[in-house]
Amino acid sequence: MIRLLDNYNLTAYNTFGISAKAKTFFEFTESDELVFFLQENQLPDQYFILGGGSNLLFKNDFDGLIIYPNVPGVGEINEDRNHIYIEAGAGVEWDELVRLSVVYGLGGLENLSLIPGKVGAAPVQNVGAYGAEAKDWVYLVRAIELATGKIIEFTNEECRFAYRDSIFKNELKNKVVITSVVFRLDKFPEFNLGYGTLKAEVDKLGGGGLQNVRDAVISIRESKLPNPDLIGNAGSFFKNPVVDSDVAQSLLQANPGMPVYSASKNGKSKLAAGWLIDQCGWKGYREGNVGVHKDQALVLVNYGTATGAEVVALAEKVKQSVNKKFGIKLESEVNIIG
Ligand code: EPU
Repeated sequence: MIRLLDNYNLTAYNTFGISAKAKTFFEFTESDELVFFLQENQLPDQYFILGGGSNLLFKNDFDGLIIYPNVPGVGEINEDRNHIYIEAGAGVEWDELVRLSVVYGLGGLENLSLIPGKVGAAPVQNVGAYGAEAKDWVYLVRAIELATGKIIEFTNEECRFAYRDSIFKNELKNKVVITSVVFRLDKFPEFNLGYGTLKAEVDKLGGGGLQNVRDAVISIRESKLPNPDLIGNAGSFFKNPVVDSDVAQSLLQANPGMPVYSASKNGKSKLAAGWLIDQCGWKGYREGNVGVHKDQALVLVNYGTATGAEVVALAEKVKQSVNKKFGIKLESEVNIIG
């Protein structure tokens, strides 16, 4: 099924709930439909591939083409001794895939419960939470190259995953449209409960078991992160900054109690952006239609009718104050369009 619409309102397609219009909106549910569309139409200069809209901010109306891959379906495609290979369409809600994997007793995605967005966006940004990242479970990514209409496959290694990063955000940014993702999930789950209060929360529910881990993650997320159906937001607005370990050590000396994590790269440490912002006094701050969430300083919120520009202006102020107090330059995790 395709839909091709002009002057289309995107409020329902971004969890920030920003009212922005797309000049043209193209939705498809089967790969061939995009291939056909690319044969028949020339891509305009401005176009954007939209997933669940849970990690982006429209700063203005979008004067171009929005490509919306809404490929459905989740199914087993293969298995080996220890794994089941599940293919999910790019348009499947991420949390629906996680829910199904837990119902079928397959381990891997449970810590990633309740992350908003769609399956197709998960490899782009290598979604992560509670000590797990999509990169550990993605086996293959199927995509269409926009310039040629060719179907291409990427192995896990070819995706060049890193913290909230992949080839799809770099060399291939805006060049390929992901249509489905194959995940390699564990038949014999091993639980990953090392992060924060996760183990304590799982124990409260009676201990391990995929469903308990999922329920624990959901309850932690619900207690900390605003539900985008109720209040517009895009989760963490900033990335946790990765800095040289000596920078982290000197900040730690000046600020005992500051959270520091070791980053995967040698000699680097990851700081908690939420903590840095919180220390600058932003938590619960409100300015007209926009604000900083009351329980999690990493999340900027839209109280109803904010414009993208208002959110960006607040983000700039937050960045400047963190830079002034700690000498750390925060980067947006959210993709700012326009
Ligand atoms: N903290 C504060 N004040 C705050 C927020 C956090 O002091 O307002 C402190 C916390 O007490 C904790 C540390 O900062 O010591 C880290 O906070 P938290 O555990 O809440 O996680 P996070 O680093 O803020 C990251 C991800 C989230 C993910 C959680 C759980 C990033 C940018 N964010 O947040 O991802 O859910 O860990 O794993 O990596 C998202 O990407 O949209 C997202 C929500």
